[in-house]
Amino acid sequence: KRVAILISGGGSNMVKLVESMTGDHPARPVIVGSNDPQAAGLARASALGVPTFAVDHRDFRGDRAAFEAGLLGPLLAAQPDILCLAGFMRILTSEFVQQFEGRLLNIHPSLLPKYPGLHTHQRAIEAGDAEAGATVHLVTPELDAGPILGQVRVPVLPQDTAESLAARVLVQEHRLYPKVLRRFARGELSPITLTAA
Ligand code: GRF
Repeated sequence: KRVAILISGGGSNMVKLVESMTGDHPARPVIVGSNDPQAAGLARASALGVPTFAVDHRDFRGDRAAFEAGLLGPLLAAQPDILCLAGFMRILTSEFVQQFEGRLLNIHPSLLPKYPGLHTHQRAIEAGDAEAGATVHLVTPELDAGPILGQVRVPVLPQDTAESLAARVLVQEHRLYPKVLRRFARGELSPITLTAA
């Protein structure tokens, strides 16, 4: 299976996904793209030997369809079987999603369906939740709402700030996403739940 990954920043999840696709893993990374030419993850992908591209969404000033057309060029040229969003911070139109529906994955830093959207850790803390975490799901046109493929649950500690919680959840994202991708690449769609080690 050919895997493409889209990032917007550091790409720590992308790095873990790329590093996981070795040996008897049924998938291999074929390209990493970003909406930000300065994304630090692009250099990390290159260092791992994965071709990269960037399409600066600021060049399209709100014309979402034109930006996505720019993404589709290099993406489709790589002929991916699976597209993983990993720290990708742009909302995709339903037209784009429909081109990859059923093979488009995303990781979201909350226990969906709780806290779709942004500032998920702050919201969990303010709600007094005992647990937070992350979710890998299939992407549908509705934001952060597709079928769940995996979750990891992380305790919220009394002294947690959004930053400390985010850091602890991120470590667990790095366990969850590679595990879910390996299963998905094998056609195993039943959802898994991990707990923080
Ligand atoms: C992190 O907040 C993570 O929770 C979310 O995207 C952000 C950056 O991740 N998935 P990455 O380091 O770019 O993978």
